Amino acid sequence: MSSPPTGLPALAAKIRRCTWCDLSGSRTHAVPGEGPRNARLVLVGEAPGRNEDAEGRPFVGLAGRVLDEALARAGISRTRTFITNTVKCRPPGNRRPRAKELAACRPYLLAQFAAVRPSAIVTLGQSAAKDVLGPSASLATTRGRWTDFGGTPVLATYHPAAILYNRRLFRILVADLRKARQRMEAG
Ligand code: URA
Repeated sequence: MSSPPTGLPALAAKIRRCTWCDLSGSRTHAVPGEGPRNARLVLVGEAPGRNEDAEGRPFVGLAGRVLDEALARAGISRTRTFITNTVKCRPPGNRRPRAKELAACRPYLLAQFAAVRPSAIVTLGQSAAKDVLGPSASLATTRGRWTDFGGTPVLATYHPAAILYNRRLFRILVADLRKARQRMEAG
């Protein structure tokens, strides 16, 4: 395992042929993430699901539709946002990524942060909050509040898939994304 390359295209190419953990054995496509190098906002989800694995793109299934709607309501353009996940390959049966898979994939996430240098990072769901902010971060304590990751402001919010089970959370997701938009516009 060497360190990942620095530019986004080289990183994506490396991720597509990565074998750093067992998830590479069951994936159809790795999902490096997508968005422009000058994105002011990075969104971090948990892991690709069935649709993402099939297409090789993040958030293209049902949860992606919720995310698109929430971004639109918050006045954020998806195409100007960099969207990625804590792990880049689908865990079998959509189970949560395991600690060793998160650890193996983490250099890619860090390299993406370093390449984009966003004004803000938004983590979607508990798994992404813990991966970025540390194991003691829970959504109950961090959601909707700015914290810091190596000098970049981080906001944890709900995962769009949670809205499929509880529609009332949608309003909160949109409010959190609006906060992120204000932060992006400020700097
Ligand atoms: N859920 C995620 O966390 N990421 C995706 O890319 C799709 C669904």
